[in-house]
Amino acid sequence: MSAHNDSAHTEPESVDLSDPKLSRFEVYKEGLRRDDIEIIHYEPRFAKPGTKAEKRMERIVGGMFLFSGLFATAFVAAFIWWPWEYEGAATWRDPQTWYTPVLGATLGLSLLLFAAGVLTWAKKLLPIEELVQDRHDGGSSTEDRRIAEATVDGLVEDMGLRRRPFLVKAALLGAAPLGLAAVAPLGALLKDPGDMLTVTGWNAEKYNNGEPIRMMMRDGALVRPDMVSVGGQITVYPAIDHGATNQFPTAPVLLIHLRESDAAILRENLYPMYDEVDALWGNFVAYSKICTHVGCPTSLYEQQTQRLLCPCHQSQFNVVDNAAPIFGPATRHLPMLPMTVDDEGFFVATSDFLVPPGPAFWNRPSLPEEDEK
Ligand code: FES
Repeated sequence: MSAHNDSAHTEPESVDLSDPKLSRFEVYKEGLRRDDIEIIHYEPRFAKPGTKAEKRMERIVGGMFLFSGLFATAFVAAFIWWPWEYEGAATWRDPQTWYTPVLGATLGLSLLLFAAGVLTWAKKLLPIEELVQDRHDGGSSTEDRRIAEATVDGLVEDMGLRRRPFLVKAALLGAAPLGLAAVAPLGALLKDPGDMLTVTGWNAEKYNNGEPIRMMMRDGALVRPDMVSVGGQITVYPAIDHGATNQFPTAPVLLIHLRESDAAILRENLYPMYDEVDALWGNFVAYSKICTHVGCPTSLYEQQTQRLLCPCHQSQFNVVDNAAPIFGPATRHLPMLPMTVDDEGFFVATSDFLVPPGPAFWNRPSLPEEDEK
């Protein structure tokens, strides 16, 4: 390709588009010539239109579009009707387990088939052509634009949109459900999330008849202070039915046994709302394990630097400063779970989280306004 010199460009001769002797291909060629495009090779994909081979290819492409539409419809149907709410721990036999894979498979297949249909149409039905173009700047003359329109008409003709009504209908039938699949997930936003964002498995009123909820490990063992050595941490869950399952996705908590000196620093830094409820017990502190960026488990505890690290996008939280974010994309602190030890020596939460745990979407504030520093 070579750069084009505008000053050397001579005005092309006018072309009468209404001349019946002018073939569509000549208009197409003229349009390309005016854009300094030269056709090196042009050959219809099928020497004779309407052959069996062409019809077969049309059916294959049309089938891809129709199946694409079918999978998109299946996606929308699964999105609306497939059971997704967990009731206790789900096994692979429960339909909830397959909710996400079904959505992914149906939408993926639909997009794949539609793309394959478009590509096959281009590769197997459109004429084979090789073009070379000189590069130039500036706008086109009115005549050039008219010829460009005629060229587009020619392209429509090449694609066979007029003589391949089956393909056009199949493409539309495939694209319509795909469009629906693109907007259907917005429907989920219409649902009122209720107290789902603010009430977790640690809410005694809702889940334990008002009795403080104990901490348990994944296997159900209740947690006592002597189970966590100084500088150590464990993940704990509310000791209620299904407390350690996906039914309570925002409940996991990291129980950390701080060194004496670190606990003292944290007490000095405590946000007033945590100070008021006496959120720590001895040198123990409990933080939500759900990263406030997009919800990964924040479970890497660096005892030396007193940081909690989220492995997903490297957010870091300062354990001795209310788990405030100090690095990475997270913008809210990890909520602290107020807790103590009951008469029988087990850890219990004294309330639910004071601010919602989990990702910071909808700009949820990190703290009550009066506690903002
Ligand atoms: Fe934790 Fe992104 S989810 S940093």
